[in-house]
Amino acid sequence: MADLDDIRDGDNFGLNSPANTDSFYLKGLNSASWGIKNRMSRIFNRKSGRTVMLAFDHGFLMGPTSGLERIDIGIASLADHADCLMATRGMLRSCIPPDNTKPVCLRTDTGTTILTEMNHNVLIDEAEVIGMNAAAMAAMIAVGDPATEASTIANISRLVDIGQKYGIPVMGVTAVGKEMARDSRYFGLASRVCAENGASIVKTYYTEGFENVVACTPVPVVIAGGKKLPELEALELAYNAIQCGAAGVDMGRNVFQSDAPLAMIKAIGGVVHDNLKPQAAFELFNELKNS
Ligand code: R5P
Repeated sequence: MADLDDIRDGDNFGLNSPANTDSFYLKGLNSASWGIKNRMSRIFNRKSGRTVMLAFDHGFLMGPTSGLERIDIGIASLADHADCLMATRGMLRSCIPPDNTKPVCLRTDTGTTILTEMNHNVLIDEAEVIGMNAAAMAAMIAVGDPATEASTIANISRLVDIGQKYGIPVMGVTAVGKEMARDSRYFGLASRVCAENGASIVKTYYTEGFENVVACTPVPVVIAGGKKLPELEALELAYNAIQCGAAGVDMGRNVFQSDAPLAMIKAIGGVVHDNLKPQAAFELFNELKNS
């Protein structure tokens, strides 16, 4: 029991300061739990409302693709310059020092590889997610793929149930199969399905008409970078997505396959957080690359 001597009555009730009833700073999440909001606030910069997530989960289906041969060398040094790390449990445990305190968006689904057809993904155990101190959980949905659409949507629905229980946001990742059109109608549908099933973040691809994808998805949308592009084009991609209302990027190959990954992630950060135009960000990239 606390010492009862000298108990002082409170006299500083801030009567001239009404309780803060502002909405949460990220769209669509005002009714989310404290835990989800707290974790989202670790991922999304409070000032810009955006994030630069560094994705290096590719190996779970692609193996040691270019730039990810040695994650301990190539990626660990970039981690400090990302707002969030998106990866699998195996690579995080083996290659990212645990004293790196960047929030982790943990890839929670796994299945087949690029050597066969679209993944028949299953989810990892929720205890593993909590044990990895994940700030968010990611799983993909394969909208339009007859073989895996239902099972991957069931996955994300179950993941949201887990997230609701423990206060962990879910990032829905929209896959693109070989047969699927990469247009705003498709990405709008797939993104909306993620949000309808309770995802707090949606990761999809930039396309013409992207403003419609963002508008019909009531939670923050981030874009994947896709295949490696010349740096200026990748910066234009990020810029265009931000102009359409994206809340940032979850970018992999256009960072770690760049000639200068550190310069590239900083230039992407300039576009995402500081509203740099592509040419200015490209100049920053070159300056950093040559310094
Ligand atoms: C794909 O399933 C992975 O989730 C990647 O993280 C994603 O495609 C983003 O990486 P990239 O920018 O290389 O496309």
